[in-house]
Amino acid sequence: MTPSLALLDDPLPSAALFDPSVDLGPAAVFRGPEDLVRFYRASAGTAPLLVVTNREPVVWKGEGCLSLPPGGVSQTIHRLLSRTGGRWIALRDSGGPDGLRVPGEEGDPGYRLDRMEIPPALMEGHYAGFSNGVLWPFFHDEPSRISGSVEDLAAYREVNRRVAARILESLRETSPALVWVHDYQMALVGREMRRMGGSLPPLAFFWHIPWAAMPAGEGVPRWLGEIVTGLLSYDQVGFQTEIYRDRFLETVFALFGSRATWDGETLSVALEGGIRRLHPGVFPISIDPDHFRMMARDPANLLRARLFLEDLGLDAAASPGGYLVSVDRLDYSKGFLERLDMLEALYALDPSLLGQLSLLQVAPSTRLSVDAYRRYAEAAESRAAEINRRYSRGGWRPVVTVSRSLDPSLLAPLYRLSRGCLVTATRDGMNLVAKEFLASQDGGSSPLFVSRHTGTAMTMEGLSLIDPADPALSARIIHEGLCLDPLRRQRKNLEALAFLREHNVYRWMASNLARPLLSSSLRPGSLARPA
Ligand code: F6P
Repeated sequence: MTPSLALLDDPLPSAALFDPSVDLGPAAVFRGPEDLVRFYRASAGTAPLLVVTNREPVVWKGEGCLSLPPGGVSQTIHRLLSRTGGRWIALRDSGGPDGLRVPGEEGDPGYRLDRMEIPPALMEGHYAGFSNGVLWPFFHDEPSRISGSVEDLAAYREVNRRVAARILESLRETSPALVWVHDYQMALVGREMRRMGGSLPPLAFFWHIPWAAMPAGEGVPRWLGEIVTGLLSYDQVGFQTEIYRDRFLETVFALFGSRATWDGETLSVALEGGIRRLHPGVFPISIDPDHFRMMARDPANLLRARLFLEDLGLDAAASPGGYLVSVDRLDYSKGFLERLDMLEALYALDPSLLGQLSLLQVAPSTRLSVDAYRRYAEAAESRAAEINRRYSRGGWRPVVTVSRSLDPSLLAPLYRLSRGCLVTATRDGMNLVAKEFLASQDGGSSPLFVSRHTGTAMTMEGLSLIDPADPALSARIIHEGLCLDPLRRQRKNLEALAFLREHNVYRWMASNLARPLLSSSLRPGSLARPA
């Protein structure tokens, strides 16, 4: 099936979008979910998309009641599937039946969600043990935090095998245009599907986290070859930045030597079963900036944010110089300790900020079943308490921590009302908080300070870069940024916003899907037929 131009009743400004060239042209425009749906229909017709994630896209709240978790990317995929139909397979993390029909709005077909029940001990080994005890610290350059056992790796393999078996089961009922698997928890699913055999639709994968540089000699873990070979089983593996993609290629060359070749588009590797060919692509993930702009401007949201700040003692009377904001899961890769060092260095640099400018940290705890996370949470809390003991005066506190996640409709005005945003990750695949902040400024002049170790810093120009490894230097950059002429800061923010409006999450999704959808539509006896 060739992409059908007839499906376009309202052509977009760019023909490049529907040109069956493999990559989206730079001129392709995605103004919102409508354009993404149109793109999908034009590329895949009525063939559904099958999405696979570790977490579910909806939370089951009881009979007939589903709520949407705040995660932006999964919500974008959810919106596409709700409109086009499709199937989603995820490990269960709330109650309710195994199979759920997630309804679409106003006559949209909705999609089927298959929720896989994994026994707790197996889940523990897969999630806390191998995914977050080994893969996460390894790929975030935190080798000293690696824990995990051979049993954890076995649990990871087994969960990936079960997910693969469930996908194959679903292929007997539906013929998707594409199977799209996400994230480091699922690296081996493609390999398991190929081992189980049968005819498969194209398999795409997106690696959301950084790819670490290949360690030298003794430092190469034994499991790395297995993860890499697992990824070679997909037809496309997406990375956030060129740096991560290139490090992946370097790892492949280090492991496979002359058996691997790369022509700039296709990676070919001679494996026992034959030659595997795949496209390692670069697709920097993004947000829906217009959604954040709207939420940040909304008077009811702004009022709620002001009341929230008053409750925290961060209103203009209690904290006259306002607050810097940071929003992260309480994860060691987000640089909490480094951020607090920066704050202290900033107060040392300019003591007039004491009693004036606070740090508001939104820091929900995460992955507490992993020792390294528990220990880190304790260390971050005690460091914040120490700074508060040392510098608090009257009713003013330098660090205000909110230990739960906040709804985006509250976060957006909190970003807008802040004096600036600190993103201090020591390693981060992308960092969407930085993008959410810039979108919420929407003409405002509060600056973003973003760690140079984030995908955002690597893929956007004109940002003020800080380095969590050098808190004193970062404090100077923050101070300069706060003192900069507001008009210059506003111009910088507007330029960043213009970039984000073009490179939004809809474009991200379409660019991920374009090549594999095209290959399925050109394949003889294609599976991309009506569901
Ligand atoms: O960034 C990687 C990632 O897996 C995201 O996809 C996810 O939103 C986040 O980490 C949260 O992780 P968890 O599911 O372990 O809470």
